[in-house]
Amino acid sequence: MDMEPVQPPTQSTQPLTQTTQPPAQSTQSPAQPTQPPAQSTQPSIRFGDIPEAAIDRALSLAYLVFHESPQDEKRKHHRDLLLGCVRVGAYDQGELVGFLAALPFTVSVPGGELPCPGLTFVSVAPTHRRRGVLTGMIRELFGKLVADGAPIAALWASEDAIYGRFGFGPATLGNTVEIDSRRPLALRIAPDTRPLRLLDPADVPDVLGPYHDRTLTERPGRLARTEAWWREEWMVEEDEDDDELSPPRVVTLGDPGGPIAGYAIYRTRTCDDAPGLVRLDDLEADTPAAAAALWRYLASIDLTGVIRAWGRPQDDPLLLFAADRDQVRVTGQFPGLRVRLVDVRAALTARSWAAPVDMVLDVRDDHLPANAGRHHLTATAAVTTADGHATYERTDRPADLTLDVRDLAACYFGGTPVASLVRAGLAQEHTPGTARALDAALRTALLPHTVDEF
Ligand SMILES: CC(C)(COP(=O)(O)OP(=O)(O)OC[C@H]1O[C@@H](n2cnc3c(N)ncnc32)[C@H](O)[C@@H]1OP(=O)(O)O)[C@@H](O)C(=O)NCCC(=O)NCCS
Repeated sequence: MDMEPVQPPTQSTQPLTQTTQPPAQSTQSPAQPTQPPAQSTQPSIRFGDIPEAAIDRALSLAYLVFHESPQDEKRKHHRDLLLGCVRVGAYDQGELVGFLAALPFTVSVPGGELPCPGLTFVSVAPTHRRRGVLTGMIRELFGKLVADGAPIAALWASEDAIYGRFGFGPATLGNTVEIDSRRPLALRIAPDTRPLRLLDPADVPDVLGPYHDRTLTERPGRLARTEAWWREEWMVEEDEDDDELSPPRVVTLGDPGGPIAGYAIYRTRTCDDAPGLVRLDDLEADTPAAAAALWRYLASIDLTGVIRAWGRPQDDPLLLFAADRDQVRVTGQFPGLRVRLVDVRAALTARSWAAPVDMVLDVRDDHLPANAGRHHLTATAAVTTADGHATYERTDRPADLTLDVRDLAACYFGGTPVASLVRAGLAQEHTPGTARALDAALRTALLPHTVDEF
């Protein structure tokens, strides 16, 4: 990797020794272990923007750290992504030793959608690990996100242990589902009989794009997809994890000339000594019957005997309409999108609530102390944010519930029950019934889920 020194930006920020944010003022929370603010072990490191001219150097650092050596085409795609986003660097004597980017995503939240910077390319040079470089970059990024008025941010983590300390909580979960398709898929409902059609990948943004846009807010945690995202992330010819997989195949369901009622994106691989594989990457359908038709199609592809779907929603209807759960098995579960409530007030007042709320929350937030302390949350019940009204104002009233901002983030889409946090000792209920009331208000019709990994 080219590690020539680059000029740090002139607006370079504080050295790591300076703590820009004081620790959160404790209100009346019980004593609990919290992360101390970042301590410098390397005062020479400075944090700031990565100028456009240094994007290639930042990418080289990321490829080094992630053990990748992508082809020119992929590198160009990454470069294009980085041109239009927030880029934070860490510089040691002018040398780039840390890099992260925040891509400008939009995510569905209960009742609507929100801008959601998505952290990615998080890289620290192997020579500079565990001395606060990531911590400093996150602090720099949070400063920018606050200045930009971002309500939330999100990421996918390579390792579970890294991001909770910065206030990111797992807000969506994915199931890995495996189907034995050596025999016909047994179903308890009749599949939709409308025609299935294989779609040319070139037509995918035009055909699937409007469908995805129309259905985006039906489930929290879904990311809006631009045309470039469809082409460069979903329709890439070669799978980045398994080059033996076929190019992506896309099947749609619906009457010719009419709107589609569902689609599946998958790749296949044949094996000499095992059943051929269908790896399902995405499947959406308007109705259970449409979903059943797509699943049955996938299970009937010749020369394959197993379907592996790595990221399905927990409430996938398949798990109920499959007639034989020995044939359709959930083989794993994993955290998906980790969400950071950058501005708790903006985030909570930007989602809809399934039931009225009137309570005082005491939130701990060591990294963004403007969020910390007691706040009075009120909300009316509504299906969309336009129909409802929520307020979240600082108060001196005693708290009904105390919790960390990372745990509030895990609940934000309605996926993690507050009551389970109380049972796990992660939230303290001061007024009995608060967790139950908050859960009733946070609840969503469909469980949050994210399939777009970045
Ligand atoms: C993960 C990575 C970015 C961490 O950078 P870093 O500069 O070493 O992190 P910091 O020194 O700021 O660490 C902050 C805290 O997180 C902890 N931490 C960092 N990486 C961790 C990991 N992989 N697992 C567990 N804890 C980790 C540190 O021990 C430290 O804890 P402490 O405050 O209790 O001492 C870096 O190791 C890296 O580039 N790894 C390879 C690429 C990668 O996995 N990126 C993340 C993609 S989502």
